[in-house]
Amino acid sequence: MLFWRVKPLDKILETAEKKSLKRQLGPIQLTLLGIGAVIGTGIFVLTAEAGQKAGPAMMLAFVIAAIVCGLAALAYAELAAMIPVSGSAYTYTYGVLGEFVAWIVGWALGLEYGIGAAVVCVGWSGYMNGLLAHADLFGLVQPGALALPEYLRMGLFAGGGFNLLAFLIGLAVTVLLVIGTSKSARVNAVLVAIKIVALTMFIFVAFPAVKSSNFEPFLPGGWGSPLGGVGVLGAAASIFFAYVGFDAVSTAAEETKNPNRNIPIGLIASLTICTIFYLLVGYAAAGSVGAQPMLGADGLPLDPGTPAMVAACVNSQALVCSNEPLAHVLRLLGHNALGDWIGIAAILALPSVILMMMFGQTRIFFTMSRDGLLPDVLSKVHPRFFTPHVITILTGIVVSICAALFPVGKLADTSNSGTLLAFAMVSIGVLILRKQQPDRPRPFRTPFAWIVCPLAVFGCLLLFVNLSMTAKVVFVVWALIGLVIYRLYGYKRSQLAPGYVG
Ligand code: ALA
Repeated sequence: MLFWRVKPLDKILETAEKKSLKRQLGPIQLTLLGIGAVIGTGIFVLTAEAGQKAGPAMMLAFVIAAIVCGLAALAYAELAAMIPVSGSAYTYTYGVLGEFVAWIVGWALGLEYGIGAAVVCVGWSGYMNGLLAHADLFGLVQPGALALPEYLRMGLFAGGGFNLLAFLIGLAVTVLLVIGTSKSARVNAVLVAIKIVALTMFIFVAFPAVKSSNFEPFLPGGWGSPLGGVGVLGAAASIFFAYVGFDAVSTAAEETKNPNRNIPIGLIASLTICTIFYLLVGYAAAGSVGAQPMLGADGLPLDPGTPAMVAACVNSQALVCSNEPLAHVLRLLGHNALGDWIGIAAILALPSVILMMMFGQTRIFFTMSRDGLLPDVLSKVHPRFFTPHVITILTGIVVSICAALFPVGKLADTSNSGTLLAFAMVSIGVLILRKQQPDRPRPFRTPFAWIVCPLAVFGCLLLFVNLSMTAKVVFVVWALIGLVIYRLYGYKRSQLAPGYVG
């Protein structure tokens, strides 16, 4: 079935040319777009998850995840510059590997963006709950008076009951998307500035407190296990989420001036800048207050997000127990007000990441529906708001419910499973296209493609294996559901199916 119903690249490019989106984004806006989509729950929240799995060696996890993303970004850049149209990995695979693989990638991207949005909702609620628990409204109320009851602060499967704020922020973003709020370049630039200032402040405050004793033992969780979910590799597989989103740059290809040059610049520059920040933040967090994991009776790190971990964390001040780790570090270092400020920065900036992710999810399924692979109703456009409201509302409900029930780390791993598949497919696609169409102009060529792309695929596989078991099981179930839907629906209704009349 491979290479079957390939949508000719020229046809894809032609469709894009006919549309008249204004080409107005330059390299700086694109880089800002990338940073805006990348910096989010990963660094603000999953640092605790990475610490619980790897201890101070989470620094290595940040590096490993960055390398895998960097390799994939080089592959992405070649296809994004060659096929500068919306739809990202789904469109590329449709044009290179054919409909069946494109379906799998589109379906996996649904998992990446949809569950990814839920991850950021949970991350946002961690900071909002933290702020409510500390706020005294300039002396008007007792600190803690505004805090929600414990069971409304975390999801049912995260040791709580119903994560109310995560649920509400998911619904709020859905409403914004339905009425047509989209990425405004100016708002994005302000939010990027807020995040960069917050992280820079964190680095400057925490760095001087770094003690070498906090790095001992360095590898309390080891490197990993064949079952995944632990150690440095388990942490890398989770923290990979922190880098996801740079592909948002490629989704703006149709609105970019000189995309052939600017898309690769935007992809690679945003990833590089974020990596530098993450390494500094990770080092400062682990070095200043320590990042030793909570251990079970067997002496091994407990699985984050489980009841055992929640029980171990009661009354603990450990970094790995915090739902708002960066604010927590600053408070532990005696800077309560700065802790509140970094919380406010996260609260202001994370909703735009949720918006971006949910936007990505709806647009991928919208495109798949337009291609005939998903029911028409999903590409219905609202008569007044001109937005795909049906898929947006459906997505919003699912995202909000997932956010209300599940722990952030397991959601992140699940989202990563979809991303890793898409990245691997894009890397394979580059090589296939080099063989199939060697003469097609390539404004950006992946350097050493025959080394870089196989390494990217290997990296994606390595991280996939090291995801938590729950995420891998969800991935398989999601893929099976996808295959059934494709067989029963998309296979017959595709625009590329024999006898299709458009
Ligand atoms: N990389 C983005 C985040 O960490 C998705 O929230």
